[in-house]
Amino acid sequence: AQKWLMQAQVSPQAWQFCWALLSPDKVPEIQYFGASALHTKISRYWSDIPTDQYESLKSQLFSQIACFSSGSKMVLTRLCVALASLALNTMPEAWPGAVAEMVRVFQEEGGGVDGRARCLALLELLTVLPEEFQTSRLPQYRKGQVRGALGREWGSVCPLLQQLLRRADSPGAVKARVLRCLSSWVLLDVPLNESEGLVHDCFSALSDPELFDTAVEAIVNAISQPDSQRYVNTLLKLVPRVLALQDQLREAVQNGDMETCHGICRIAVTLGENHSRTLLEQVDHWQSFLALVNMIMFCTGIPGHYPVNETTSSLTLTFWYTLQDEIMSFESDKQAVYLQVYRPVYFQLVDVLLHKAQFPSDHEYASWSSDEKEQFRIYRVDISDTLMYVYEMLGAELLSNLYDKLGRLLTNTEQPTSWQHTEALLYGFQSIAETIDVNYSDVIPGLIGLIPRISINNVQLADTVMFTIGALAEWLADHPVMLSSVLPLVLQALGNPDLSVSSVSTLKKICRECKYDLPPYATNIVAVSQEVLIKQIHKTSQCMWLMQALGFLLSALPVEDILRNLHSLITPYIQQLEKLADETPNPSNKLAIIHILGLLSNLFTTLDISKQDDESADGSAPPVKATPPPPGPNPVVVVLQQVFALIQKVLSKWLNDSQVVEVRRHAEPSPVSSLCLRPTHLGLRCFTGGLCHLREICEDPPLPSDLLNCSFQMVHIFASETDHFPPIKALFELVTSVTLSVFQQGPRDHPDIVDSFMQLQAQALKRKPDLFLSESLDVKAVFHCGILSLKFPEAPTVKSTCLFFTELLPHCSDVPPLARVVQEDGKLLVQAVLEGIGGGASRSLMDQFAEVLFSLNKHCFSLLAVWLKEALQPPGFPSSRITTEQKDNFSQQILRERVNKRRVKDIVKEFTLLCRGLHGTEYAAEY
Ligand SMILES: *[C@@H]1O[C@H](CO)[C@@H](O)[C@H](O)[C@H]1NC(C)=O
Ligand SMILES: *[C@@H]1O[C@H](CO)[C@@H](O)[C@H](O)[C@H]1NC(C)=O
Ligand SMILES: *[C@@H]1O[C@H](CO)[C@@H](O)[C@H](O)[C@H]1NC(C)=O
Ligand SMILES: *[C@@H]1O[C@H](CO)[C@@H](O)[C@H](O)[C@H]1NC(C)=O
Ligand SMILES: *[C@@H]1O[C@H](CO)[C@@H](O)[C@H](O)[C@H]1NC(C)=O
Ligand SMILES: *[C@@H]1O[C@H](CO)[C@@H](O)[C@H](O)[C@H]1NC(C)=O
Repeated sequence: AQKWLMQAQVSPQAWQFCWALLSPDKVPEIQYFGASALHTKISRYWSDIPTDQYESLKSQLFSQIACFSSGSKMVLTRLCVALASLALNTMPEAWPGAVAEMVRVFQEEGGGVDGRARCLALLELLTVLPEEFQTSRLPQYRKGQVRGALGREWGSVCPLLQQLLRRADSPGAVKARVLRCLSSWVLLDVPLNESEGLVHDCFSALSDPELFDTAVEAIVNAISQPDSQRYVNTLLKLVPRVLALQDQLREAVQNGDMETCHGICRIAVTLGENHSRTLLEQVDHWQSFLALVNMIMFCTGIPGHYPVNETTSSLTLTFWYTLQDEIMSFESDKQAVYLQVYRPVYFQLVDVLLHKAQFPSDHEYASWSSDEKEQFRIYRVDISDTLMYVYEMLGAELLSNLYDKLGRLLTNTEQPTSWQHTEALLYGFQSIAETIDVNYSDVIPGLIGLIPRISINNVQLADTVMFTIGALAEWLADHPVMLSSVLPLVLQALGNPDLSVSSVSTLKKICRECKYDLPPYATNIVAVSQEVLIKQIHKTSQCMWLMQALGFLLSALPVEDILRNLHSLITPYIQQLEKLADETPNPSNKLAIIHILGLLSNLFTTLDISKQDDESADGSAPPVKATPPPPGPNPVVVVLQQVFALIQKVLSKWLNDSQVVEVRRHAEPSPVSSLCLRPTHLGLRCFTGGLCHLREICEDPPLPSDLLNCSFQMVHIFASETDHFPPIKALFELVTSVTLSVFQQGPRDHPDIVDSFMQLQAQALKRKPDLFLSESLDVKAVFHCGILSLKFPEAPTVKSTCLFFTELLPHCSDVPPLARVVQEDGKLLVQAVLEGIGGGASRSLMDQFAEVLFSLNKHCFSLLAVWLKEALQPPGFPSSRITTEQKDNFSQQILRERVNKRRVKDIVKEFTLLCRGLHGTEYAAEY
């Protein structure tokens, strides 16, 4: 029914039936449908209307609006929108002075409708007019014209609004509507100096509770107009009006009136945030701007706990960034002057923020809902980010300031200190230390000295202490003597399930950063870790982190120590795994297997005795100090040899279970980070150790796309390691030939396999194009497989295939077999790409197709020119909607763009719209 009604609305008959539906004997729902149909026709099928009927349509609308001004509100609004749309279509030539005429028509007496209803209808009409303009789909050149015309109409609107707002006898409902109308008009960039009088009236309206919200909205809209900064004098006059709201604000705070607090703070923050530069530059008025800044400080520090007692303070944080940015962007001598004024302000801000970051009393916190706790957590993160930013302005002095406060707090024996206060100061410290190199701050040793003085009687405080130590891990690496004072705390916390996340992540950071200084503590760390693992104190993901921590730790030990520790660490798990491998697969032993494989993977992920991996050049892995590999056997290999058979047994039993296989791939969130190296090592050895086994699996289609996925990882990781090249090459050839044979049997049956296959090929091209030099690789078949896949309906498959071609084309020059196949069959590729652009493929894929064209243009320019010409020759290709001239134009444009990829994407988008007959339609603009 919905569809039928939508069709009815756009049908030619709608012009007639809409009036009938509006008749007074119909129910409002039907009248509403009639009014909507009218609006739809006017806004989208304007060209249906002959010019000589504009007048009669207009007067019909006026009289309908008059009728409904005392009728159904929703029908009235729709009719107003319809008339607004008509006005926008006829302004300024066909209907000059539209707004003035609207005002005049509604001010005339008559129609038996009372003055107040007429006034409200007029205000409704004037309110929807700018809104309809914002959402209308006028062509660009008309938009500018109409905006100009509307701007000139402000001269008719403004006096009307002012008069209505100032009249003592205007009813509240009218005034509220006036304020909404103003909000709507200022969004059209009405010059601020011309709405100044009205904005002042809005400030006066703030004392009326009934008008408060709409007045706030109007003021905020007016002063946040991008253009408003040009009217400096007007802005300067507004500052005292904002400052004058402070009494109302304080009163609202006292009465716990959150809405009023929120509204007033929004006004102050909007003025400060949008105009800090302009106002800072008015040096003669520096005191009034400083007063505004202090008012915003009051809003930041508004009493009560966020989000339970207040929701206002979070509004202000962006202001502080903006102000700081503006100050720091002045040239240095000017900046120095501003800093003199504003550094103390920012120090005060730090105090205020740390006060706001404090946890409430235990009793109160316990009464919060989990949603409130989560909001508070996020709020604290925002505060933390602000502090980090403020550090750029205040520098090391900020840390000493925090340190002094903490010192005073912890050594003050007269007053009992609240844990909340201590926690907040440490939290501030940690926020900064976490991201900033604190090496040159001389207060860190003092801070570490203070930590043992903290009486940790609370989980939140303990968490923050842990995170603070974690944040100092890099510093500890430079100052290893201090390790002995913090490690015991961390190891102790490790046994507390409530501190699971903070203690394990801190231990991991310390092990990663300080591994070369940890050998003296290694025995102890391993022992404690083993104990908590056995006692199952931590959840799965913390167990995984803990194994990573141990991997880092062991990496720096002498080989025999590594072996000894590894032996004691993993023997229990191996024994368990042996037992599980003999059982019949079921869901519970599956989970256990996944858990154990995960632990081993994570351990081997970080256990790295070699020099820095080339993989960490990705930036995905932490930098590791380069050291020459120690002499002796590689302990990882030693262990692997021992467990090889076992892992193979598990794999062969579970290989059709993607979860078990995947655990090795997804041990880390980012699958293509160096961290996959060790787990996949296991896989590689299994596979290369038993390629026959692999062949067996492969030759029993459907071949698991997981296997391709695994191969992808291996190519990614091992292709550039010379030692591993022969097995990788064998693996790659085997997987390619098996997949191609699957493909020949029925390519459409396995789009997921084709997807993974194309990703694998792309990866091989990227990591090791030499793989394509091999005699036993059927490059031509792979290329053809790609061309077929370009026509698949599955968007992900097509995306991977486009990626394959964009990786392939650059190797036209350095890999002869690839050059040959491109030369011979490149035209097929161009045809397939054009077919996709011509309408064969989803429009969401056009960027990918454009990439292929761009790559062709870059790497086989002269051939592309010929292929394009030949491919576009047949009439009706790639679309019957396209003319020869448009095709020529397209080829020329493409061939011209050899540098600007963005441009090529635009050209392809334009062309695909032409081919699909969507050019210049609403549909095109919408998607
Ligand atoms: C507003 O400012 C413009 C210049 O930007 C000026 O031309 C115009 O006369 C001013 N209008 C009023 C009412 O002051
Ligand atoms: C103006 O202020 C509002 C409210 O604080 C903010 O959302 C908006 O981003 C600001 N605009 C500019 C250009 O700073
Ligand atoms: C915050 O609100 C809670 C609950 O409504 C109340 O118990 C507490 O006293 C309030 N705190 C402040 C500082 O207003
Ligand atoms: C940090 O300071 C220590 C000792 O003061 C010094 O040895 C180390 O090189 C410094 N590190 C950096 C990154 O500046
Ligand atoms: C493979 O999966 C099936 C069912 O999903 C299961 O019965 C079988 O044991 C699994 N293992 C092997 C080796 O087939
Ligand atoms: C691995 O397989 C999954 C689906 O099982 C797929 O979403 C993913 O993109 C594949 N990754 C690679 C690198 O092939």
